[in-house]
Amino acid sequence: MTTNIPGRVGYDSMREYMQILEERGLLKRVTGEVDLDFEIGAISYRSLVRNGPGLLFENVKDYPDMPLATNIMYSLDQLAVAFNGERDWVALEERVHEGMRNRLPSKISPTGPVKDVIIKGEEVDLGMLPTPLWHELDGGRYIATTAGVVTIDPQTGAHNMGQYRSMIIDKNHTTVKIMGDFPVGSPPPQGSNYGGASDRSGAAHVLENEAKGLPTPCAIVLGMDPLLVLAAGTAVPTDANGLAEYEAAGAWAGRPVDLVKCETSDILVPANAEIILEGEIVPGERHYDGPHGESSGFYNKNYECFVFRVDTITHRTAPISFGLICGRIEDYPRPLMRSGSILNTLVEKTGYTNILEVHFPDAGAKGVIIIRAKIDHDGQPKEIMDAAWEHLSYRWVIVVDEDCDVHDWNDIMWRVVSFAEPEQHVYLGAVLKRPLGRPGEMDFIPPSRGMGIDATRENKITEFPIPAPSKPTMELLNKVGKRWEELGLS
Ligand SMILES: Cc1cc2nc3c(=O)[nH]c(=O)nc-3n(C[C@H](O)[C@H](O)[C@H](O)COP(=O)(O)O)c2cc1C
Repeated sequence: MTTNIPGRVGYDSMREYMQILEERGLLKRVTGEVDLDFEIGAISYRSLVRNGPGLLFENVKDYPDMPLATNIMYSLDQLAVAFNGERDWVALEERVHEGMRNRLPSKISPTGPVKDVIIKGEEVDLGMLPTPLWHELDGGRYIATTAGVVTIDPQTGAHNMGQYRSMIIDKNHTTVKIMGDFPVGSPPPQGSNYGGASDRSGAAHVLENEAKGLPTPCAIVLGMDPLLVLAAGTAVPTDANGLAEYEAAGAWAGRPVDLVKCETSDILVPANAEIILEGEIVPGERHYDGPHGESSGFYNKNYECFVFRVDTITHRTAPISFGLICGRIEDYPRPLMRSGSILNTLVEKTGYTNILEVHFPDAGAKGVIIIRAKIDHDGQPKEIMDAAWEHLSYRWVIVVDEDCDVHDWNDIMWRVVSFAEPEQHVYLGAVLKRPLGRPGEMDFIPPSRGMGIDATRENKITEFPIPAPSKPTMELLNKVGKRWEELGLS
């Protein structure tokens, strides 16, 4: 393991990352026996809402030899380790943006630890992997709750790795749940839900192959390092190298991602992952998936999903499984995965370059966004809200001034209660559109109408002038921030 190289993370795999977490008290081993059926999900949830450590379940009932990790990439402390960076959301967001712009080419190796054990054909049995029933009403065991589903664009040859969940159907089949309904014969999806032209590219690959009667080679990567997980859940635009997610993750990590070729296809997968499921998405077949507890905080409906036939499993010696309980609150850094994409989408679509930050707090998917902007005229916050409702489908939109810390609910609420006259600055929003017109994208969850709060004070015309806030100005805070290290406060 390489440590303490500036700008480079201190790990090359999920297990090395977990080792650092443990050394810093950010991961605990659970040695008591736990049940896959609901218990692991409930323990993970209870610990998550208490901002608890990462958990490594070492004694999973019926699986004495295969531990399962949860909650390892949620807290700011954990993410500072993941990025070898500052404990600061804004600084980490900047790292994400920078890495998307300037990627680091991957390294391709002849073999790697993920090939330690190779299981083929009749020997393949997904039952060998501890896969929880995460929520009490789930329709099945979800194996890929934090995984990368890798496919190749049949036209360009570019790889795509998307984070799409999979429910186990039988010993060698799973669903691949790419959001939306894609009946056999439907056209490839256009556009994106969270921003970025390549969002849900996996579905386009499958549907293009299927139109020609062809299967889609596919690999599901389980147990990746946290920056690869982040890349899989983010709409990373494709580029000429065709390895977009791997190369964004490499740039974030400050070292190339090491890749190896699959046994059964040309798909490249991370050499240091724990487990790879290889096979094909079967043309002309669909299988129900769900219900499943979702990031909206509700169970979703059953989708008719693509069917993945697993032909080969490769894994490290003594592999570690990794998964998450999905709900209103989840084990992944939503602010990093989504906010960057939402900001890009909003600025690009509205031309409001004075929008500085968009924050997506843990209030459930499609719940609320906070928009931080440099307001230059009275009424502009309402214009920004209207633009947000036109282009996104978040219910609540709260607009705050440039000097607000959008990661601090108390700062936001202080502005709401101090600067928003209910009659003048609280608005009923538009009736929300389905995300980009793809029917069935989200289950219908009321309320369907947004609400907007103008919690700004800059350039606002009010009956009585708003007194100057006593908080230090951003300029002053940035100035002292530069002295942090010198003052021994880092
Ligand atoms: C933990 C997690 C689970 C997700 N599960 C799904 C899913 O099951 N289906 C889906 O379509 N998108 C899911 N997403 C969102 C996609 O991963 C995201 O839109 C990503 O950009 C898709 O990759 P792509 O842009 O390469 O298509 C999930 C995101 C996260 C962070």
